Amino acid sequence: MLTRHATSNLLDAVTGKSKMHPENSHLSFLLFLAVAALAAGEAAAVTTLTATPAKLTSTDQQITIRWSGLLDPDGLDYVAIYSPPSSRDFDFLGYLFLNGSATWRQGSGELTLPRLPNLRTPYQFRLFRWPAKEYSYHHIDHDRNPLPHAKHRVAVSGEVVVGDPAHPEQVHLAFADRDDEMRVMFVCGDGGKRVVRYGLGKEETDWKEVGTEVRTYEQKHMCDSPANSSVGWRDPGFVFDGLMKGLEPGKRYFYKVGSDSEGWSETYSFVSRDSKANETIAFLFGDLGTYVPYITYERTQAESLSTVKWILRDIQALGDKPAFISHIGDISYARGYSWVWDHFFNQIEPIAANMPYHVCIGNHEYDWPLQPWKPLWADGIYGTDGGGECGIPYSVKFRMPGSSILPTGNGGPDTRNLYYSFDSGVVHFVYMSTETNFVQGSDQYNFLKADLEKVNRTRTPFIVFQGHRPMYTSSKESRDAALKQQMLQHLEPLLVTYNVTVALWGHVHRYERFCPVKNFQCLNTSSSFLYPGAPIHVVIGMGGQDWQSIWQPRPDHPDDPIFPQPERSMYRGGEFGYTRLVATREKLTLTYVGNHDGQVHDMVEIFSGLVSSNNHDAEMMDGSKLSTGVGTKPKKFPLYMGIGGSVIFALLLGFSVGFLARRKNDVAQWTPVKSEES
Ligand SMILES: [Fe+2]
Repeated sequence: MLTRHATSNLLDAVTGKSKMHPENSHLSFLLFLAVAALAAGEAAAVTTLTATPAKLTSTDQQITIRWSGLLDPDGLDYVAIYSPPSSRDFDFLGYLFLNGSATWRQGSGELTLPRLPNLRTPYQFRLFRWPAKEYSYHHIDHDRNPLPHAKHRVAVSGEVVVGDPAHPEQVHLAFADRDDEMRVMFVCGDGGKRVVRYGLGKEETDWKEVGTEVRTYEQKHMCDSPANSSVGWRDPGFVFDGLMKGLEPGKRYFYKVGSDSEGWSETYSFVSRDSKANETIAFLFGDLGTYVPYITYERTQAESLSTVKWILRDIQALGDKPAFISHIGDISYARGYSWVWDHFFNQIEPIAANMPYHVCIGNHEYDWPLQPWKPLWADGIYGTDGGGECGIPYSVKFRMPGSSILPTGNGGPDTRNLYYSFDSGVVHFVYMSTETNFVQGSDQYNFLKADLEKVNRTRTPFIVFQGHRPMYTSSKESRDAALKQQMLQHLEPLLVTYNVTVALWGHVHRYERFCPVKNFQCLNTSSSFLYPGAPIHVVIGMGGQDWQSIWQPRPDHPDDPIFPQPERSMYRGGEFGYTRLVATREKLTLTYVGNHDGQVHDMVEIFSGLVSSNNHDAEMMDGSKLSTGVGTKPKKFPLYMGIGGSVIFALLLGFSVGFLARRKNDVAQWTPVKSEES
């Protein structure tokens, strides 16, 4: 290989800077041509790019990318990630700047990626030059940073295969319509036969086997860009759906999915539903999102990793107690970039393959201007937040109980999982769609009213009502004002009439707990009380997405609006995290766990007025309104005032740690510009 210096000396020699005799001009010219050709070829030929291993085994957790021989490296040069390898240069999944390597200035270096999802096609990596003078703010990502133009490719790696396309991936559970059932869904690269085998104990000879349904969707079904464009679309594989039946209540079952011919998943386990249990445990949050280990078109949610980590800690502490997850909208934040869904399901699999994972629809799952069932008042509210997915990945990849279905509007699979309910132990859980009409007379309103009417308060003394866009929040969300007005007019009377205990919302990426409230009036301002006749509203959109306008004034942003804390707002937290719900027949406790330390930062407990051993009390409550003074008085409650000071300190610490962590992640990237997005 010629060095740049050596090439320069040779050129000097043949272009007269040396003392060569004029008679040798013909020879000089030939030599010049030879050297020029060598020099021109050098830049293209000597830059190498490798990605290893070429095939990741089940234990390989990293991909290493190495390059060398890059002349005049520039701070914006990058490696782009592709799958399938036939993708055009500008249809990359994402990219990494070479300056993430300490040796990049020497024209060589190494970058690593954690194991990437099995996209059922190989990956390939390509190295591009990106001269600083060529970046443009006309082609930008969601953070308003320039996107690579993919014009100057200088090296291509070999293909990297992650797993077997036929292997079952993205396994996740959900409750089904019957108490003695559990649904399992998973993805394979082909639609061939797959089954579910399950049983009590790990001994497979005693296991039952059930078949599966299989569905998929196509690029033409997507409603808009980027979901239907070559940039955003990737083949989603085939989604399998199996129903385990005849389960005994409250027992740990083991299962695996796949087939003898195409291979099996690992063996997972779950604790079956127990509708007669005297305890209910759930982990609830909204707006979780996905961590993606490279820069892509949208900002992704690194904080979601912490949320999953702490919930896993809690699950391990549960032992054989049944519990489930509730993720109330804005799920993966794929927004039309198909492979982000694959990252998401890989990320939640450690939870969702071992515990039911329940969802409702958020604006980032559907929101699309031509939504055929958009209410009139939603003009100006419902927009393009779904990235053209129009609910199809959400509807095919998840299957919740119930049968609520509406046409998507473009001939693709129907939109499902809109509104449904189920009992879990002592709590009746209701899920609504804030993306669907809910005013009096609508199908959804009729469902919600009938569902709340028939709740057996003896069996489930508590009702938890959930939807994505909040009815109460002290954040700005001025775009949603008309929607909130409709919710207050049509839904709040339902919640009050039927004694809903807790109403949970997402969309605002913060935690905020309101007092038990009716038409903006507080019925109780403590954190431990007998159900007073109206629900507490809690915003729990702090799962991972970090776009949010602030509440408090900032001296360096004097023009930003300020959102003071109203009287009815009992607690506001800006830290990422989730909520834990634990309910017995006597008491429902909701706690807010912060991600920086996994500790509880807020808590409220609501007493039903029932005592589990007292059947008379239970009968008295059945079907009747619960109000202050009715039923058994609560015992002397534990108060949590003492945690206030340490909580504030912990929150400040959490902000600092989170900020520093994000800064660290942003090394060798564009500096994100804060914006509002929910
Ligand atoms: Fe949202």
